[in-house]
Amino acid sequence: MNILWAHQIVTVDPENIKEILATRFQDFEKGEKFHDMFESFLGTGIFTSDGETWKFHRSMARPFFVRERVSDFDYFERHSAKVISIMEHMSARSEACDFQDLFQKFTLDTTTEFLFGSCTNTLDAPDNGKGDHNRYADFARAFDRLQDIVVTRVRIGSTWPLFELFGDKSKGPMRIINAFIDPILKHAMRDRKNLLREDVTFLDYLVRTVDDEKTIRDALCAKLLAGRDTTASLLTFSTYALALHPEAMLELRKEVLRTVGQMRAPTPADIRSMKYLRAFINEVLRLFPSLPVNIRRSVVSSALPSPLSKMGPLYMQDHVSITYSLFLMQRRADVWGGDAEMFKPERWLDIPGQALQTKPQVANPFIFLPFNGGPRMCLGQGFAYQECSYLLIRLLQRFRAFDFAPDAQPLVSLPPKEWAQIKGRASIERCRIKSSLVLYAEGGMWLRARAADGSESACPEQ
Ligand code: HEM
Repeated sequence: MNILWAHQIVTVDPENIKEILATRFQDFEKGEKFHDMFESFLGTGIFTSDGETWKFHRSMARPFFVRERVSDFDYFERHSAKVISIMEHMSARSEACDFQDLFQKFTLDTTTEFLFGSCTNTLDAPDNGKGDHNRYADFARAFDRLQDIVVTRVRIGSTWPLFELFGDKSKGPMRIINAFIDPILKHAMRDRKNLLREDVTFLDYLVRTVDDEKTIRDALCAKLLAGRDTTASLLTFSTYALALHPEAMLELRKEVLRTVGQMRAPTPADIRSMKYLRAFINEVLRLFPSLPVNIRRSVVSSALPSPLSKMGPLYMQDHVSITYSLFLMQRRADVWGGDAEMFKPERWLDIPGQALQTKPQVANPFIFLPFNGGPRMCLGQGFAYQECSYLLIRLLQRFRAFDFAPDAQPLVSLPPKEWAQIKGRASIERCRIKSSLVLYAEGGMWLRARAADGSESACPEQ
């Protein structure tokens, strides 16, 4: 494409993407323009840098994301209990609830606690499920605003500074973010010499290993951005898939009740043993990847292999942006089979006689990249799987179904009428799927939760 005299390549070919992210990692960078668009928000951190600076930030963050740390379930339990209590309250009155809003609060609370040890407690607002009146709502709104600002910059491209000639739009919301982070950060810096306990939070770890306050603040903002909406998106589309596919709900509840019963909190070993749950989450991430589109910039000119396009290698100019869409690539029929657009967690399981479908990602890991591939792979993958699994298990212990609530859905959240005419997946969607930085349901994900009756056996029937 040529937009405002700038060339841009768009690809949905796994072989191209493999080349960009892994095989020739050093020849494709995020680039200076990307850095400039995000700098006022994320500074020069892991997301916005390349080369040695990126390596420094990656090696600084990596030790914190070890398995033991992301498997500390105490605070998942506390925050899950709040989500469940809100849903139970709404369910008892047969009221619909915006699940997306709840999950955004849940992931903001868990991620701030994981990173800072100080939680935003957005789930404690008195009228949850309907609104968001507490003092942290400003923080959440400022964060959303910042994401909108940077997405708009990415969409406008190189000329974005022209649209902010009269001032950097991120300044206002950044003041609100800093007002939350700065006191916590200053306190931690002041006390760091007396920090006798081992690092409990990412902040403990950073103040012990890094001297510069700005580097620490940027690192915290980056992880907050990385961890909050991505996981909320995964949870939102997980419950959407459960509402849309009651057979998957039944199967998943069977596994949950067989493994942990109706009351017991899951352990990391329980989660590891739950094969259908993992398959279910992968299938959600395949059809609804939290980061549906991503971008890199070529450093040198080259030829990209494209066996699927059957056109031979494709010329890739130097200093040109290349956008790759996972949303489209992970739905390609020639890659995933004729049922690519169907929701089928079974395709991730070892099913005798279904050789073609067995663990598709093993055959070619680059056809499934919700957490990215190559050296810049997501550091929070383990944390995200644990967090999402934990909450889903807790929800399925308490609720036996999630039903759509068209009566409560705002108009803007309904799928556009023309989707009904489109052949394939779009015609069965019940919400308006959109993307800013992450995939989300426009106007919210309005569902009603049906409570389980508390006396179910390990094999529930509908
Ligand atoms: C469902 C949840 C998540 C998804 C789908 C996801 C996906 C991704 C993707 C696609 C990238 C690559 C971005 C790029 O370089 O262009 C990434 C990077 C990253 N993610 Fe995640 N992420 C999730 C959750 C998390 C969580 C919970 C954390 C931490 C609390 C996290 C931390 C990071 C970090 C630090 C990077 C930067 C890696 C680097 O550039 O070296 N992510 N993630």
